[in-house]
Amino acid sequence: MKIFVTTKIPGDSLKDLTKAGHEVTISEFNRPLKEEELVEKVKDADALFTVLTDRVDSSLMDAAGPQLKIISNYAVGFDNVDVQAATDRGIVVTNTPSTEVNESVAEHTWALILSLARRIVEADESTRRGGYKGWEPGIFLGTGLLGKTLGIVGLGRIGSMVARRAKGYNMTVLYNKRSRDEKAEQELGVTFAELDDLLAKSDFVTMHVPLTEETRHMINKESLAKMKKRSYLVNTARGPVVNEKDLAEALRSGQLLGAALDVFDNEPDINPELIGMENIVLTPHIASATWEAREKMGQQATQAIISVFQNKKPENMVNEKVWGKRRK
Ligand code: GLV
Ligand code: GLV
Repeated sequence: MKIFVTTKIPGDSLKDLTKAGHEVTISEFNRPLKEEELVEKVKDADALFTVLTDRVDSSLMDAAGPQLKIISNYAVGFDNVDVQAATDRGIVVTNTPSTEVNESVAEHTWALILSLARRIVEADESTRRGGYKGWEPGIFLGTGLLGKTLGIVGLGRIGSMVARRAKGYNMTVLYNKRSRDEKAEQELGVTFAELDDLLAKSDFVTMHVPLTEETRHMINKESLAKMKKRSYLVNTARGPVVNEKDLAEALRSGQLLGAALDVFDNEPDINPELIGMENIVLTPHIASATWEAREKMGQQATQAIISVFQNKKPENMVNEKVWGKRRK
């Protein structure tokens, strides 16, 4: 079977595909392929190994041809794949939500929360510029976490891992989710709150929702105005969940004390106003970038392809219902 891998990926997991006797073509670039390059490269592939920067829509699936059986997306999020179009065509879609990757995103979320609270990036920059002239009682005062409220929007696997860590800091945790999750409440000691209530009460708000039409620009002018004054926002989910222009305004006006973003509305572009601000921490979509998580993602994405070729149902199918009607 022919497999096209849309970018170079770290680790050795792809070797398992060759060992299983398949023909693997890996893009020669370390960058996302352009639409016209993708259309060209996917032709005749039985499987596509895709990454989150690839827009996998119906025309790309048709450009591959009627033999395309699986789209294995090397990511937790799969908003880059038109899952409905794949299901309509009998194509299996899988993602890579392992403990390793979810923990990695949760850890990065905490790295950002702590960086904001203790102004690590600002303080580091000042120190490097020679700004440290001697101990002073009033420099770089931050916000303590003890007794503060963390608001988690989206209590899936990643949101839950973020919640678990909040206990260690003795924070109160509110969460919002489409429906109340009493099991999680018991296990994690978290309290359900309507979104507006969560925004009004939280000192730190962290986003863990998938990107859907419902969540696009969920954080906008109106929701930012509802946030507690001088609170913080963290986004490690998907960029378009937050309206960057509205966020810049909220930071400028002092409504928010700070924000940390790992994802952006129109990656890799970042709103220039945000780049110029001191009370913001920016990382380049690296929340799942640990050796452990990337290795696991590679293994899962590879195994999904091998399973489908062996007519075995893969783990982490995002369109379960296609299995009985899949292309063979
Ligand atoms: C990264 O953003 C992922 O969805 O895995
Ligand atoms: C990811 O797997 C999530 O449920 O947040």
